[in-house]
Amino acid sequence: MKWWAIGAPHLTSEGSMLERDRIVSALEDASSAPSIHNSQPWRFRLVGSGVEVVLDASVTPRTVDPVGRWALASIGAVVANLELALTARTGRAITTAYLPDGGAPAGETRAGGAAHDGRVLAVVTLGEVATTTAAMHAARLAGAMEERRTTRGPLLGGPPTDEEWAEIRAAVAFSGEILGAPAPSALVPQLLALTARSETERQDSGAYLEEIQAWMAGAARAGTGIPRGAVGTPDADGRVPVRDFTQTPLGSSGDGDVVVFEDPPALLVLHSGSDTPRDQLLAGYAMQRAMLEATVLGLGVGVLGQALEEPASRAEFDAVASTALGGAVVVHQVLRLGHPLGAPTHVPTPRRPVAELLLG
Ligand SMILES: Cc1cc2nc3c(=O)[nH]c(=O)nc-3n(C[C@H](O)[C@H](O)[C@H](O)COP(=O)(O)O)c2cc1C
Repeated sequence: MKWWAIGAPHLTSEGSMLERDRIVSALEDASSAPSIHNSQPWRFRLVGSGVEVVLDASVTPRTVDPVGRWALASIGAVVANLELALTARTGRAITTAYLPDGGAPAGETRAGGAAHDGRVLAVVTLGEVATTTAAMHAARLAGAMEERRTTRGPLLGGPPTDEEWAEIRAAVAFSGEILGAPAPSALVPQLLALTARSETERQDSGAYLEEIQAWMAGAARAGTGIPRGAVGTPDADGRVPVRDFTQTPLGSSGDGDVVVFEDPPALLVLHSGSDTPRDQLLAGYAMQRAMLEATVLGLGVGVLGQALEEPASRAEFDAVASTALGGAVVVHQVLRLGHPLGAPTHVPTPRRPVAELLLG
């Protein structure tokens, strides 16, 4: 008997054993997705010829995510991976339905996505045999899933070229609803200043630092959290306010490294016209598609989302972005993109085994 059959005795009787085997392998691939503090708040249920993706808010960080947007974005990121992995593993086309039960009541937000706890947030269904183009497209991005990492170090090898920006923007637009705009040069210092201010305010909060310390220790579950080797060293010039994990006992390297980041950083603003749970899911989806495309292109990708966490700083962020981009936008994420110089030095983050993620 296969190991997954032991862990998931209620698997559907549809489809061949071989296909189920491939689906479970695709779940393992999908779990390499990014998630807030590497919390991996996804659970999977095999149904008919597809997979339900369920939010488990019992494992999500709360202080960093006061309205739950990062929990939903994390689910969107794993859905992006799951689509690609399913097509790459089975050769079949997929369709995804978001929020099949309509989601939490309108406007209900709770820290860590608790308003959506236990809900099916997406159903990814296998269809007919994929076209050759779709299969090749999926294989190209799926091939980057294992290698992709969140970059917290400098990207000193130059910004994306025009062709690379075009590929990254197309990857974001594939979401169907989220767009990616390279930040114009006048907007970059404004976004950095607002992000730096939020980062400083965050660092003044004992609860915030305690939460980081807990996630660095993988406190919630084995196979989660962020190891010291993945957190990098803050920008000595203080210009690029990467989320600072080093102010905690577990994060401090104590080695006195001095690292100066690129100037100016190349920033991609992910935005849409609204801020519904669907937008938040698709923002995570778009983020992961962009990260995978960047990985294929040899680009590093960092995340600078701190100013989007609290409603007040978020409103300021939206205002400056709307002015610079020439229309009212809701910003969902900011990615920092660029070519690294030399080989990456950060270590991979752990993942939970698929057997623990399957719901009966
Ligand atoms: C919605 C979301 C928000 C994130 N925000 C940040 C952030 O502000 N700063 C940061 O350094 N990493 C951020 N990350 C990256 C996670 O910390 C990272 O995905 C996780 O630790 C797993 O590591 P990996 O991406 O290298 O596999 C975010 C990830 C997601 C999905």
